[in-house]
Amino acid sequence: MSGPNTNYDPVEVAPLSAESLAEMVAEARSAFAAADTVAALKQARSEHLAERSPIALANREIGALPPQARKDAGQRIGAARGEIQAAFAARQEEVAAAELALTLAAEQVDVTLPVSRRPVGAPHPITALMDLMADVFVAMGWEVAEGPEAEGEWLNFDALNLDSDHPARGTTDTLFLSPLERHVVLRTHTSPVQIRSLLDRELPVYVVCPGKVFRADEFDSTHVPVFHQIEGLCVDKGISMAHLKGTLDHLARQMFGDVRTRMRPSYFPFTEPSAEVDLECFVCHGASVGNPDAPCRTCRSEGWIEWGGCGVVNPRVLAACGVDTAVYSGFAFGMGIERTLMFRNNATDMRDMVEGDIRFSRQLKGAAR
Ligand code: PHE
Repeated sequence: MSGPNTNYDPVEVAPLSAESLAEMVAEARSAFAAADTVAALKQARSEHLAERSPIALANREIGALPPQARKDAGQRIGAARGEIQAAFAARQEEVAAAELALTLAAEQVDVTLPVSRRPVGAPHPITALMDLMADVFVAMGWEVAEGPEAEGEWLNFDALNLDSDHPARGTTDTLFLSPLERHVVLRTHTSPVQIRSLLDRELPVYVVCPGKVFRADEFDSTHVPVFHQIEGLCVDKGISMAHLKGTLDHLARQMFGDVRTRMRPSYFPFTEPSAEVDLECFVCHGASVGNPDAPCRTCRSEGWIEWGGCGVVNPRVLAACGVDTAVYSGFAFGMGIERTLMFRNNATDMRDMVEGDIRFSRQLKGAAR
């Protein structure tokens, strides 16, 4: 039967001798000293303090000692381990401080270096104004809809009740993409998005469509061949001209402050009745009319500014999109963004809006907000 070996001489148990413990401490110290990164120190720690380190193995030997020798050995090992731990902690502080110093040196910012002088970009005033107008509708729960700029002739014209002999459909007004047999045009207005929205969506439909449109126009101070419109379409039960008027008044007030709109009878094939919408002059509020002493540049002393077209959606358009016209009706409107920017922000020449001179954008920066 084997029991504790009472004749066991603790000093003979090599790992527990004072010398070998001192050696372990010395080795650990020099390993820590040699480690000059946090990673290397971590490695040294696992070799000299962790489970399989000499000091840990020595600790296990205690169990093999006769009871009377254990206390002594335990104290010696504990002291040695304490020394190793203290050495580690001291070195850890040094290494961390050194690494921090290195990082700080490497990431130092030289405030005397020349900076990049490229200016920060910003949305073009047209884009900013278009977003601003769309936001008025988003706030009322409308959706923003978009359509392609190269549009099917059917969607741009036929579905909107423009006959094939309508003058706007000629090549003098409309830009056709070749080959002509494909019947694709650069959309001449945003109204085809009305059709797309009605075909794509469940009723009721409340959409605004801001976007680029194209016409074979002159390029002068009041015409550019590529310009922007915002279209609105609402189709729901019981919609009337009164809703249209209320909506336009709301848009006008959001954009120009305390102003009214008025409607003048007009004609569009896709609305019936149709109207031109005018905006009460937000500068003189009509005070300049017949008053040569106080002329108004914004409305040219007319008191009203032409803004866009609108009307009750022609039932033929609704029917072309499969809408039951006995149940549903709607209104639509559309206005030019360039025109709106002209009188809202006092831009006098449309060419400035396309020429890309940054001074123009800078001048109107924030104005479209
Ligand atoms: N699409 C018309 C235009 O470009 C404007 C308009 C839109 C008129 C909606 C009525 C209803 O002139």
